[in-house]
Amino acid sequence: MNDRLVQAAPVDDDVQYEAGLRPRSLDDYIGQDRVRANLQVSIAAARGRKEALDHVLLYGPPGLGKTTLAYVIGNEMGVPVRATSGPVIEKPGDLAAMLTNLQEHEVLFIDEIHRMAPVIEEILYPGMEDYELDIVIGSGPGARSVKVPLQKFTLIGATTRAGLLSAPLRARFGITHRLDFYEDADITEIVRRSARILGVELDEDAAGELSRRSRGTPRIANRLLRRVRDFAEVRADGHVTAGVAEAALKLLEVDDHGFDEVDRRLLRTIIDKFGGGPVGVNTIAAAINEEKDAIEDIYEPFLIQAGFLDRTPRGRVATARAYEYFGLTAPGRDTRLW
Ligand SMILES: Nc1ncnc2c1ncn2[C@@H]1O[C@H](COP(=O)(O)OP(=O)(O)OP(=O)(O)O)[C@@H](O)[C@H]1O
Ligand SMILES: [Mg+2]
Repeated sequence: MNDRLVQAAPVDDDVQYEAGLRPRSLDDYIGQDRVRANLQVSIAAARGRKEALDHVLLYGPPGLGKTTLAYVIGNEMGVPVRATSGPVIEKPGDLAAMLTNLQEHEVLFIDEIHRMAPVIEEILYPGMEDYELDIVIGSGPGARSVKVPLQKFTLIGATTRAGLLSAPLRARFGITHRLDFYEDADITEIVRRSARILGVELDEDAAGELSRRSRGTPRIANRLLRRVRDFAEVRADGHVTAGVAEAALKLLEVDDHGFDEVDRRLLRTIIDKFGGGPVGVNTIAAAINEEKDAIEDIYEPFLIQAGFLDRTPRGRVATARAYEYFGLTAPGRDTRLW
């Protein structure tokens, strides 16, 4: 089973291709209709008032378009986006320098914002709230604090792990949106759009075949498209028919549902060790050696949406579909009602 192909985090050549496939405007951004509609209003209102857009927090599993959306927002506001990420900001001074360099209404994009050190995070509080920096000069009894005014800017934060964000930081975002896994129809449209950009001839049912195995994730859809294109060029005449797509995906050993290794381990553990559940998420986390909130933020949402896992008040339950997936028969659950 080829896990790297269905993994949602970026791998090797993704970065190079993604730049070219990234939508630039809200109109090009496919799916996430509620988020898009809300942002359209927020952006139009801010532009109308000639103000900076409120600070925006984008969260959701990897590969769903958070970074893309941050740049789309910059474009729609007509301002440049200065980008950094939580773990690369080493000293409070680094962030202070970025903030003081921002021009009016510009966007500072902080990726993986949950990985910012607390001392650095604190610089952001007055920055976001009052557009000023509190800088302490000197130390000991002679130390004094000076306020440095900032231009009115927009902070866009992105995270896969909203659960790890501190409450004071989260509270300072005026606009918060969660990105969800894409509907099949939207992923199909994304695959078609990418095929157009890459100049790949792709039949309609081949697009459907690819999107079904993409875990509702544009990054995976684009990656599979590239691999299938390679296959079509080498083993066929370059044209991706449903047959070519199927043969390519089979050769690549891509999972029928786009599951990766953690998805399978999670389901299998509930079935094998806990009789299919219900079992608490802490217990699952310990059993598969993953963090509890990684399960809640990243793995579980897709399995629930795809109908393989149920969240009940007493814990997680593997559904009949999960049993079928492993070629097992689900135990009769109705007996428990007696
Ligand atoms: N709504 C969309 N329409 C079309 N393509 C999209 C959309 N969202 C994402 N993509 C494609 O998927 C790729 C991955 O998206 P992006 O890098 O924005 O994900 P991300 O949420 O920031 O992931 P990570 O959490 O790993 O940083 C983009 O390069 C883009 O080509
Ligand atoms: Mg990103």
